[in-house]
Amino acid sequence: MKPINVGLLGIGTVGGGTFTVLKRNAEEISRRAGRPITITAVADKNLALAREVTGGGVRLTDDAFSVVADPEIDIVVELIGGYGVAKELVLKAIENGKHIVTANKALLAVHGNEIFAAAQKKGVMVAFEAAVAGGIPIIKALREGLSANRIDWIAGIINGTTNFILSEMRDKGLSFAEVLKEAQALGYAEADPTFDIEGVDAAHKATIMSAIAFGIPMQFDKAYIEGITKLDATDIVYAEQLGYRIKLLGIARRREQGVELRVHPTLIPEKRLIANVEGAMNAVLVQGDAVGATLYYGKGAGAEPTASAVIADLVDVTRLHTSDPEHRVPHLAFQPDQVRDVPVLPIEDVVTSYYLRMRVDDKPGVLADITRILADSSISIEAMLQKEAVEGESQTDIIMLTHQTVERNANAAIAKIEALTVVSGKVTKLRMESL
Ligand code: NDP
Ligand code: HSE
Repeated sequence: MKPINVGLLGIGTVGGGTFTVLKRNAEEISRRAGRPITITAVADKNLALAREVTGGGVRLTDDAFSVVADPEIDIVVELIGGYGVAKELVLKAIENGKHIVTANKALLAVHGNEIFAAAQKKGVMVAFEAAVAGGIPIIKALREGLSANRIDWIAGIINGTTNFILSEMRDKGLSFAEVLKEAQALGYAEADPTFDIEGVDAAHKATIMSAIAFGIPMQFDKAYIEGITKLDATDIVYAEQLGYRIKLLGIARRREQGVELRVHPTLIPEKRLIANVEGAMNAVLVQGDAVGATLYYGKGAGAEPTASAVIADLVDVTRLHTSDPEHRVPHLAFQPDQVRDVPVLPIEDVVTSYYLRMRVDDKPGVLADITRILADSSISIEAMLQKEAVEGESQTDIIMLTHQTVERNANAAIAKIEALTVVSGKVTKLRMESL
């Protein structure tokens, strides 16, 4: 049967993996797709690299626009990244009637509404399994496998770089900078690693999942984002002593008043499976009203795991591209006219539990003052740890775990605690989820 022709834009980590796996498993893949999937053109700024990876058997160019304009190309695979030229290329390819496969979560979280509207109008598919959690088929699970459910919440370790950093720091006592360099060398980190460590990459992915899970538009600009750069190693140790692990979680939760969409370091009980996801592995926990909790685990980054998702999309598009656009699975799971403009709640309206660490004078009455403030704010304490003062020091650390309260209330109580003369400096506040 006549092959489907693919134009590959970007042959770096993921593009290289895609080329390699597609070549290695060509026969199995075409048996599944119903016809061969052939990369006929590759565009990359680095032509030497493109020649090295492909062996030179395909058309190579440094002009990606020539690929999206090529009438022989059926599917454009965008693996350049970012929201600059990638956006122009994707929109141009759609205008030219090409189907799109992309791993670019930044592009979709920020410009997805425009891109999906253009694709809808043109009757082409935009597939993006690789954009969230690399090789884990979480998009398919949310969009198709769980379509009977009202999804209540999603919580995921969806950035391999930060999970790798947190794991290595905890296990090997290595410094943040050392581990980040290793993650970059292994190809996990984004071109700009601040996207990883400041939580932006996880927020891109959480935004995409929230849209598919709740039938809402992409609202990345409303997401609350806090990365791991301000996380103190002391808190990793105290959390462990209290039976918790700290993970960078992306959370999307449906509430009556709107949707919570947030990324931040989070304490999780160490007994939970997801608390034990280590290294660059990803895991996503989804709570549906019918199915209950389901957990998806696997490699969230790297050349071949991500290629696995890119190629699954290529197979899907190949199977479906002759079908009537009206009868395809909607891009964002819900029919386009059924997407609802539900607001994302500000962080002050989020309801969760807290880990509070404070440096206090080691003298009678201090604990009573603090617990009085919490009680007056209707914040109940779940657990507490008071460290013995180091000999010769007059201050010590108190750590409190609270039950759930709205963040605005927790902040007001913290401000009162910080105003006590027996408390030095700021209270460290971390959010906690029982999942
Ligand atoms: P790389 O930087 O490794 O690859 C991108 C490639 O695109 C580079 O070879 C780059 O060349 C090339 N390129 C840049 N600009 C152009 C242009 N205008 N025309 C043609 N080629 C160009 O990135 P990754 O493979 O890591 O990531 C690709 C996408 O996949 C990103 O959206 C990323 O977020 C996403 N992703 C990555 C994962 C991973 O594990 N790495 C996992 C999941 C998603 P040069 O280097 O010379 O600039
Ligand atoms: N930089 C991303 C990560 C790549 O570390 O998870 C996968 O999206």
